[in-house]
Amino acid sequence: MQTPSKESGYSNLDCTSDPMKYVRRLDRQGANPLWQKIKSQMLSLLDVREGDRVLDVGCGTGDDVRSLAQFVGISGSVIGIDSSITMIQEAKRRSEKLSFPVEFYLGDAQNLEFPDNSFNSCRVERVLQHLDNPQQALAQMVRVAKSGARIVIVEPDYGTISIDGGHSVITRKLIARRCSHFRNGRIGILLPLLYKHVGLKNIVVELTQVVRTNIDEEHEQFLLDKYIEPAIAVGVISASEGKQWIEDLKQADLMGSYRYAFNLFLVCGYKPNS
Ligand SMILES: C[S@@+](CC[C@H](N)C(=O)[O-])C[C@H]1O[C@@H](n2cnc3c(N)ncnc32)[C@H](O)[C@@H]1O
Repeated sequence: MQTPSKESGYSNLDCTSDPMKYVRRLDRQGANPLWQKIKSQMLSLLDVREGDRVLDVGCGTGDDVRSLAQFVGISGSVIGIDSSITMIQEAKRRSEKLSFPVEFYLGDAQNLEFPDNSFNSCRVERVLQHLDNPQQALAQMVRVAKSGARIVIVEPDYGTISIDGGHSVITRKLIARRCSHFRNGRIGILLPLLYKHVGLKNIVVELTQVVRTNIDEEHEQFLLDKYIEPAIAVGVISASEGKQWIEDLKQADLMGSYRYAFNLFLVCGYKPNS
């Protein structure tokens, strides 16, 4: 039996067969009211002011950089970094006609190429789960943040995934494989402790449950692509168990008892005055 992969596509999306697939996926998620609500919660915790210098680590296509830019105005600046050339090129292309000061750079969250004490706030959304060393990324953000700066992070805890409607033993196996596929599938629940370790103060933790209660074509494909097929490939379940599982879920959907859920952690902390 093969070992499950620790490589989600986002860890190195430029090396996948279709990097633009991840751009399209972020666009779909960005249009989802749940993610819009999370982004606006992050915005209010960041408490960005006119003239601020703000960093978005793992900025993807730059949507959040562009929306933050409206708050810092022309006297401030918002900088996005991402390790993917595809994402940075897309972010720059989408920002060409913007009159606000935004900048995008290729870079690694674990080794930020900015001077110490240079940002009023930093945000990270759904990035640390894909890194080898999320602690180092957080320490880097603390280094580049000014005293009093806010650091706001949103990450999932895939250890809390629950899927109701299928055979419970198969479900448990599929969830365990899915969680172990990420370099840091449980990073969400670890964040408050990591914040304390790097000396951040006034830590606020907000928990949101991502919930889905129906199966449409796209969600069925997601279950096939992310749960069933990889689990069959590494021998965690058989093909017939996978087929039966999805049929059971669809049946549960018809009966109104399907439920897919996991927790997202939103954490904010301040860099104390030194
Ligand atoms: C799920 S996407 C989230 C993008 C964006 N934060 C958002 O919420 O729309 C994860 C992003 O992290 C980036 N990423 C992965 N590893 C990285 C690293 N070591 N340093 C910086 N960015 C990284 C990926 O290229 C991808 O754009």
